[in-house]
Amino acid sequence: MTTLFDPITLRGVTARNRIWLAPMCQYSVEARDGIPLPWHLVHLGARATGGFGLVMTEATAVAAEGRITPGDTGIWTDTHAEAWAPITGFLKAHGAVPAIQLAHAGRKASTTPPWRGGVSVPPEDGGWTTYGPSAEPYRKLATPVPMTVADLDATVQAFADSARRAVAAGFEAVEVHSAHGYLLHEFLSPLSNKRTDEYGGSFENRIRLLVRVVDAVRAAVPDETPLLVRVSATDWVDGGWSPEETVELCALLAGHGADLFDLSSGGNDPRQQIPVGPGYQVPFARAVRAKSGTPAAAVGLITEPAQAQQVLDEGSADVILLGRVALREAAWPLRAAHELGVPAADAPYPVQYRRAEWQ
Ligand SMILES: Cc1cc2nc3c(=O)[nH]c(=O)nc-3n(C[C@H](O)[C@H](O)[C@H](O)COP(=O)(O)O)c2cc1C
Repeated sequence: MTTLFDPITLRGVTARNRIWLAPMCQYSVEARDGIPLPWHLVHLGARATGGFGLVMTEATAVAAEGRITPGDTGIWTDTHAEAWAPITGFLKAHGAVPAIQLAHAGRKASTTPPWRGGVSVPPEDGGWTTYGPSAEPYRKLATPVPMTVADLDATVQAFADSARRAVAAGFEAVEVHSAHGYLLHEFLSPLSNKRTDEYGGSFENRIRLLVRVVDAVRAAVPDETPLLVRVSATDWVDGGWSPEETVELCALLAGHGADLFDLSSGGNDPRQQIPVGPGYQVPFARAVRAKSGTPAAAVGLITEPAQAQQVLDEGSADVILLGRVALREAAWPLRAAHELGVPAADAPYPVQYRRAEWQ
């Protein structure tokens, strides 16, 4: 029986356990130039010392115009990579696999942070032109400029270049963000992709950009670097991207060198009806894992150690990603070890914290 505290190996990288930090935007780069700050070191570092097996950065932009907000992190220059290096060094030193989520926000770029309404930033306040598959706006955000094939070629290159920089910065795993209504998801979904060229229409055409990105990232990183892909398994809207298409996509991407699928959902259409509840996205991980023969991560309202262990027990997923609960509790894995009776010597305590388990 696999437990939360069993290691897992993907290619040349072993995570010490199966409790991983989900990517979470911090919207906090005050200088608005994508360079990570001491905040990111402390926020991510606390989850490494808190026992997470893998610590994933927030959505980190592969191009300046691919940021969701001006305060997002990026990795579109070598200067960004240099700023990430001390952070990856700290995560590694404390036993966590440093992972980066590479992202392009597409038509949902250039917005204010959630606490300022998530509305389009006007140009006079530092907003920028947004791009997408078609001139279809999301809600009341600015209408995106449809991308030319040259734009798409440049975006594929930006993902590859960013992946190469990420490895140079010390990241040991790379996740391609193709969920939540951002650029790659916008191409997958017929609700946002109205193109009539080879990037729109059929399933094969809608997945073309993501497949190109996966191929380019795979080629840009060493063989031993795991490549993760996050997708929204469904738009939760009739006529949108569907769970069946997700299963077919992931089975195909497994043949393109993707090593683990991270199954989230929604974010591309305001009409979505999401049946939110504990573990509500777990069935998507289960279906993809079964069909693709590739490890899968479950995410979404998994909050209790016994619940997380149950997801592994029933064979639905290989790892658990924690989001909001990990904001409330940076050392969730240490609590889980304590509650599940894992001996202190086998739990992911930093040596400085071992005393916590003394009688
Ligand atoms: C503050 C916050 C920021 C988030 N930012 C990202 C992100 O950068 N990339 C991403 O793929 N998902 C993002 N998410 C979604 C989480 O990764 C996760 O999938 C979601 O919160 C569901 O898991 P949970 O119920 O454990 O929070 C974010 C969620 C929160 C709460």
